[in-house]
Amino acid sequence: MSATKTFDVTAVRNDFPILARTVHGKPLVYLDNGASAQKPRCVIDAISRVYEHEYSNVHRAAHELSNATTEKFEAARRTVQQFLNAPQDREVIFVRGTTEAVNLVSNTWGRANLKPGDEVLITAMEHHSNIVPWQMICEQTGAKLVVAPMDTTGTLILPEFQRRLSPRTRIVSCVHISNALGTINPVAEMARLAHAVGAVIMIDGAQAAPHMRIDVQALGVDFYAFSGHKAFGPTGIGALWGKAELLENMPPWQGGGEMIKSVTFEKTTYNTIPHRFEAGTPNIADAIGLGAALKYVMDLGHEVIEAHEQELLHYATAQLGAIKGLRITGTSARKAGVISFVLDGIHAGDAGMILDEQGIAVRVGQHCAEPVMAFFGVPATIRASFALYNTKAEVDALVKGIKKVQELFR
Ligand code: ALA
Repeated sequence: MSATKTFDVTAVRNDFPILARTVHGKPLVYLDNGASAQKPRCVIDAISRVYEHEYSNVHRAAHELSNATTEKFEAARRTVQQFLNAPQDREVIFVRGTTEAVNLVSNTWGRANLKPGDEVLITAMEHHSNIVPWQMICEQTGAKLVVAPMDTTGTLILPEFQRRLSPRTRIVSCVHISNALGTINPVAEMARLAHAVGAVIMIDGAQAAPHMRIDVQALGVDFYAFSGHKAFGPTGIGALWGKAELLENMPPWQGGGEMIKSVTFEKTTYNTIPHRFEAGTPNIADAIGLGAALKYVMDLGHEVIEAHEQELLHYATAQLGAIKGLRITGTSARKAGVISFVLDGIHAGDAGMILDEQGIAVRVGQHCAEPVMAFFGVPATIRASFALYNTKAEVDALVKGIKKVQELFR
């Protein structure tokens, strides 16, 4: 890796082979990082190396390959621990991604702890993956789903959040950064308020992991989840961190190999954490690839990444904000590099297609956040989401692209 702590975006771009390609004959302008981020060479190489040189199953044999793969797999777990500043590596559970992490907590912690009359508190800006699993477990346990509102800038109304907390609240589950709006939530303050009523708090960090330093101890949360593929790692791998005392008291989720201590037809006893929650052969190579991705981010340095992305966000907000007939949804004072917008009289889907013809990749639609769209009264938005390798020149290309869309629909 050639970039330094002073952040050299050209060097960073050279680390991502796909950024050199063209789309429809135009240089690729990849602004769909909120959906999934591109992969640096070190991640691609780490995965290839496993399959070419070291591959075997983990935790199951005494032979050389299994030992080597197990060591790398567990080293990746320690990298996740370091990335989150988690106290212990055994508190890190490999999962498919954030969605699976929320389902794991709702199904295990939820099933063991929720009963009729209890409440689960989420916010109005959640992704479907932090709504539906809670709705499902509420239906099964008789608990009630409560929603804390946001204001018209897409900012959580903290006094309203606090008003909805009570001794009935058993768990708060909230997004760190909204995928549809870019809002950064005041997680440490929310954790303090949740704990004051005796609730635990889980954070969906899918959009935060690629963009900001995450310190679960400083945030004071109980569970934190993120996906590898949005953080420059492979698809199909992510992590759930939880406090050991909570994880140890949660019933297992999926049954199978690895999660057991002993099995007879009469009775099974379960393994210790984290293995208790990792039934079956895990996603070995991708966990190792995730470790490489997180190391890449940590080597670059969160502070320089954040500074670069904030500069892009402010530049893009000013440039897009100056376009007549463009309205940004999500204007919170604390935002990450996500800009959702609508164009007067133009369907988001049409705009997305015309931008694509110019090599510009954005996401259009509801962003798996239908309630957010309903709140803003729009059927869909166009979303540009930035990552560490994006440039102001790409923002300029987006602005030019939008003007072309408007011309075509005039
Ligand atoms: N949750 C992803 C997004 O926001 C897929 O696009």
